Amino acid sequence: MSAEDGQGEAAPEYLQSFTIVGGDFAAAGSVSIAAKNLLKAVGFPAPVLRRVAIVAFEAEMNVVMYGGGGELAVYLSPTTVRLVISDQGPGIGDLELAMQEGWSTATPQMREMGFGAGMGLPNIKKNSDRLTIDTAPGKGTRLQVEIDLP
Ligand SMILES: Nc1ncnc2c1ncn2[C@@H]1O[C@H](COP(=O)(O)OP(=O)(O)O)[C@@H](O)[C@H]1O
Ligand SMILES: [Mg+2]
Repeated sequence: MSAEDGQGEAAPEYLQSFTIVGGDFAAAGSVSIAAKNLLKAVGFPAPVLRRVAIVAFEAEMNVVMYGGGGELAVYLSPTTVRLVISDQGPGIGDLELAMQEGWSTATPQMREMGFGAGMGLPNIKKNSDRLTIDTAPGKGTRLQVEIDLP
């Protein structure tokens, strides 16, 4: 037993999950806005909302552009917001490359729409207190992001 046992550290509480539609650029961004509004309604401070919005938007866009659709789930604990963004798309071939600033496989059409700067994953990392990425060719990609409350 650790000293923390019995101290009431609640297991992460599942809040809500949102479906992300692959390739739907008209709806893109709506899930991250909904997640941010949910946390705003719960009363989270602005700096946390800002980080959640950045992480959720970049992850949502990657699922729209590369993942073929998926979902974003929000969990809360007394100390942390956890976002889990998952898809069952092609996976990320070279994660080390993908984490580098400026590296992107965006198509010319995506670039015309203003995407493909290759800053999404680096910005997710920058705005996370903890980031775990599970990805495998043909099996999809799952990001777990934790953002601590102040
Ligand atoms: N969910 C995903 N599924 C498959 N590949 C992905 C996914 N997310 C990111 N990638 C790959 O990682 C690269 C870098 O992503 P990111 O840093 O967000 O930049 P960008 O979205 O501008 O391409 C993408 O170009 C893509 O090749
Ligand atoms: Mg991106």
